[in-house]
Amino acid sequence: MSETQRVALVTGAAGGLGQEFASALAARGHAVAGLDLADQSATAGRIAAGPGGGGRGDGGRFLPVRADVTDPDEVDAAVEEVVARFGALHIVVNNAGVYPPLEFEKTTLDDWRRIMRVNLDGPFLVSRSALPHLKEAGWGRIVNIVSAVVFLGPPDLVAYTTSKSGLVGFTRALASATGGYGITVNAISPGLVRTATAARTTGADGGFERVRDMQVVRAVEEPGDLVSTLLYVCDEGSGFLTGQTINVDGGSAKH
Ligand SMILES: NC(=O)c1ccc[n+]([C@@H]2O[C@H](COP(=O)([O-])OP(=O)(O)OC[C@H]3O[C@@H](n4cnc5c(N)ncnc54)[C@H](O)[C@@H]3O)[C@@H](O)[C@H]2O)c1
Repeated sequence: MSETQRVALVTGAAGGLGQEFASALAARGHAVAGLDLADQSATAGRIAAGPGGGGRGDGGRFLPVRADVTDPDEVDAAVEEVVARFGALHIVVNNAGVYPPLEFEKTTLDDWRRIMRVNLDGPFLVSRSALPHLKEAGWGRIVNIVSAVVFLGPPDLVAYTTSKSGLVGFTRALASATGGYGITVNAISPGLVRTATAARTTGADGGFERVRDMQVVRAVEEPGDLVSTLLYVCDEGSGFLTGQTINVDGGSAKH
């Protein structure tokens, strides 16, 4: 893998998978901006501390931006702030998302629309705003974080599964629209990963153990288990990989 330093934007970088992705890209030498509604000081601290916590990280190359991925003006302003600070933009990780378990017949139209707004409007707005900068660079990586639910379709996640399946379609069509500019678009689908949000929701009441027992790999998936796939997709040598959904769920769905 080559070591060219790029500028990356990770949405939902305040915690969970987004914090893991932002830290991994920073540890790789990339300049990283995090976009989140929530405070990102924990992510900034982790990046400043470096991979081993020994203080070798380059905290000056992390820019936390507060924005709502569903708000077009805030997204445009956030992308402009990143480009003003780092001079370019190359990698976009559309990670911000919500996944509340909901009984289908009790799902309100507001529930449905909120899930679609964050999980679909968000990646649309962020990618649309970022794209001119990736085109200008003549090189880009857009990575959409979907979910293994697109293969498994769990009963309590109908709205969520619909939104992430939409994001798979978005990935495929946007890959076709951007391939001529040196830009790849791919999706990564995690299984159930031990983050604070997952522990409060899907993973509650023994959920992690239930999912672990459906996997071929008999361990609870951790955020760090997604990092090598993210770095592979973003690598300089991965320019021929586009429009794909890479399933990293311990073998629950053999896609
Ligand atoms: N944890 C899992 O088990 C799991 C499995 C498969 C897929 N995923 C996906 O991975 C992504 C991250 O999941 P996580 O478990 O780390 O969740 P998380 O709740 O820890 O992180 C999501 C982040 O997105 C931010 N966010 C939410 N709405 C936003 C908005 N409108 N604008 C800006 N930021 C917003 C939140 O503040 C939060 O920091 C999500 O897209 C989720 O659907 C998670």
